[in-house]
Amino acid sequence: MLTIEQIDSIDKEFEDRLGQVGDARSLEALRIEFTGKKGKLTLLLKELGAIPTAERIEFGKRINDLKTRVEGQLKEYAEKFKQSPAKKSDADLTLPGIKPAAGKLHPITQTIQKILSIFTKMGFEAVDGREIETEFYNFTALNIPLNHPSRDAFDTFYTRHGNLLRSQTSTVQIRMMQKHKPPLKIVAPGKVYRPDTVDASHSFMFHQIEGLMVDEKTTFSDLKGTLAFFLRELYGPSTKVRFRPHFFPFTEPSVEVDMSCFMCRGKGCHVCSRTGWIEVLGAGSVHPNVLEAVGISSKKYQGFAFGLGVERMTMLRYGIHDIRLFFENDVRFLHQF
Ligand code: DAH
Repeated sequence: MLTIEQIDSIDKEFEDRLGQVGDARSLEALRIEFTGKKGKLTLLLKELGAIPTAERIEFGKRINDLKTRVEGQLKEYAEKFKQSPAKKSDADLTLPGIKPAAGKLHPITQTIQKILSIFTKMGFEAVDGREIETEFYNFTALNIPLNHPSRDAFDTFYTRHGNLLRSQTSTVQIRMMQKHKPPLKIVAPGKVYRPDTVDASHSFMFHQIEGLMVDEKTTFSDLKGTLAFFLRELYGPSTKVRFRPHFFPFTEPSVEVDMSCFMCRGKGCHVCSRTGWIEVLGAGSVHPNVLEAVGISSKKYQGFAFGLGVERMTMLRYGIHDIRLFFENDVRFLHQF
């Protein structure tokens, strides 16, 4: 049978629950739970019929008082929640918004994309290589025998199993020539690793782009025309190009390529160390030994190759003086490109 304690306990429960309500939705749930069709208070009223007449008046009054109070409080809270969305309009809509930070391509990636687009325009195909290589691809097949002094500059990081991190993208020349028969025209961007001490112009890791063309009648003048076109696309049509004899084991003859200084137009300034020229590339005609190492007849085929440093190109493009800036991930630096 219904007791006064039951009524009091529902009263207390309602007070507790109301205190926890934080929004209109939970208020509505509370309303249904207490005063809905099957609500706790509604059920109490239904039980009233079973109470002996003498006590029914007392019970009825208690329940009705409680119901009135509960309904009043529910209304009061409903009003409060109705007003709070209106409060939101107090927000100052003229304030500037919060802009989400948008990412950008790294300046090195931008330079790689720009350079590749120039070469693909000339019919070169952009290909990928491997960063972990064997001595065969990094040295032997490139005409750098074990005791050759030029290995020193390239001697790199070795893994426990005798592999190494490539020190030049020239490795891709070999992999491509093993897989595909000439004619071949490729450019291969990627990371290379050297045991260099880090300073403003050196890093133990940097990026290169390798180029290779092999065909039956590829000449040194094709190399000159290709590189001159490339440098003029990248640094402007008035750029002059000069070739100086040099030595690389995998090309013969080999050259270093300079371009006229874009800053002083050849007069001499701090960018070109007062010489008017900036060294930008290594290149040459593919050495017959390299062709033979991958089973291509050096009688039938000739080719040219070149390699350039992407960080150096990027530093020249934007007047950056310290290579370390590329790898520090400081967004204040990166955002400028
Ligand atoms: N691999 C050379 C380096 O890392 C760059 C290079 C020079 C690549 C001459 C070439 C080339 O293909 O013909 O210094």
